Amino acid sequence: IALPEAIFGHRANSRGVEFGDRRSLDDFLAARNRAKLIGLDAKCAVPGLASNPVDIRSPVDGSVVGRSHHLTAEGATKLMDEAKRHVVAAEKVPAKTRAAALRKAADIMESRRGQLMAVLAAEGGKTVEDALAEIREAEDFCRFYADETERLFAQPTPLPGPTGEENRLRYRSRGVAVAISPWNFPLAIFIGQVAAALAAGNVVVAKPAEQTPLVAELAVAILKEAGFARDSLFLAPGDGETGAALVSHPATAVVAFTGSTETAFAINRALAARNAPIAPLIAETGGINALIVDATALPEQVADDVVTSAFRSAGQRCSALRLLFVQEDVADRMLEMIAGAAAELTVGNPKDVSTDVGPVIDAEQKRMLDEHMAMMQRTQRIRFAGTLPEGLPAGGQWVAPAIVELARAEALEREVFGPILHVVRWKAGELAKVCDAVEATGYGLTLGIHSRIDETIRFVSERLAVGNIYVNRNMIGAIVGSQPFGGSALSGTGPKAGGPNYVVRFGREQVISTNT
Ligand code: SER
Repeated sequence: IALPEAIFGHRANSRGVEFGDRRSLDDFLAARNRAKLIGLDAKCAVPGLASNPVDIRSPVDGSVVGRSHHLTAEGATKLMDEAKRHVVAAEKVPAKTRAAALRKAADIMESRRGQLMAVLAAEGGKTVEDALAEIREAEDFCRFYADETERLFAQPTPLPGPTGEENRLRYRSRGVAVAISPWNFPLAIFIGQVAAALAAGNVVVAKPAEQTPLVAELAVAILKEAGFARDSLFLAPGDGETGAALVSHPATAVVAFTGSTETAFAINRALAARNAPIAPLIAETGGINALIVDATALPEQVADDVVTSAFRSAGQRCSALRLLFVQEDVADRMLEMIAGAAAELTVGNPKDVSTDVGPVIDAEQKRMLDEHMAMMQRTQRIRFAGTLPEGLPAGGQWVAPAIVELARAEALEREVFGPILHVVRWKAGELAKVCDAVEATGYGLTLGIHSRIDETIRFVSERLAVGNIYVNRNMIGAIVGSQPFGGSALSGTGPKAGGPNYVVRFGREQVISTNT
């Protein structure tokens, strides 16, 4: 499918800022609609591994869009045995060749945006804007990590030493890397983890989320078409049982995981329980992300940024705004504007360009969100409750955006992963208390500040141990290379994806000191 170069929107990526026009968007959508949903059968390519077929249902209308062959624990263990056999061959591929393959994979994705977008919409419920941003991010990851592997792995770094002694630091692969990714960015995070692990010369076993294995199947095919050997990358479709078997295997040398904090703890325990070499965990987990707004903030800008941060992607981003702290003096006016902006959002089918908020991922997430709203209705004050338009496909997982005013921040006890924003008021002079409340969540992923007072920005940024701070802007959509992404505390281990310390963590260091 030939696609126009610039498509839609204005999201910056590593190639600069792209602007699209209406005509190119129409061409692009036509290409998406022509794209065949091929390869919608996610399967590990290694023959003979025990697996169970599971239908993949679209969150848009409940229709079956493909099938996953979930590896059993036994199948996953055999896959790891197989992966281990290819470690030496994978590391022999020169870093420059790996980098070239990653760049080629990015080019292929760019040329197949229509097909990827179609699958992201069908399987993941992604809107046009979100799907495009995600594909661009996946391309960015591949190009950025290609540069990283050339910077770090292509040649040793000379180190000082006494006369007659040569010291060199070089990066080697670790062996088998296990990558476990979430459903909310089924292409970008899947490929980000895999690309970094491949960049460092590992054999990669990649388990996509059980809800979204189909786009992962396409991503693996693209990486192989781009030049990675068949035996350097294995797709491992499956559920929690599959993942547990992968991380418990003695050959697992490093794990990249994005998902819930509870699962990160479980992976840590599984790694520690093995009688095997110590393997690091690179985890990116959740957050109860806060935005602090003071009386000097610009109301129109706040309304726009709050709505984007809380409701874009139906709130299904780990970076999304969950807890808005508004200074009492301006709270009523701000909340009115925010509710007004939220009321403008169109909840709808992702295939419609005008849709702002698509479905949530599955019936289980919808049930949790509905239960949470029911509890909020009983105990807190609902400031805004969106309505679902008529004619939404039956069988879709629709949740309308909502804004809840809490009596106290502590009333939000856990991360609520959907389009529900919680608001708390604070009084002038109580900034330190606001910071205490944010800290008490235990998380440290994203934080927003809307203020024109330098001292406020400095105080909050110094005080809170969060990974990504966004000042006077929205707080989602970190750009690879510009805004390395990831948190600390209950939000993850670092290093940050899309940053200068990420690929290196998938490798091991070796120093050679030679006397001449
Ligand atoms: N990286 C995404 C963002 O910044 C979140 O997962 O929005």
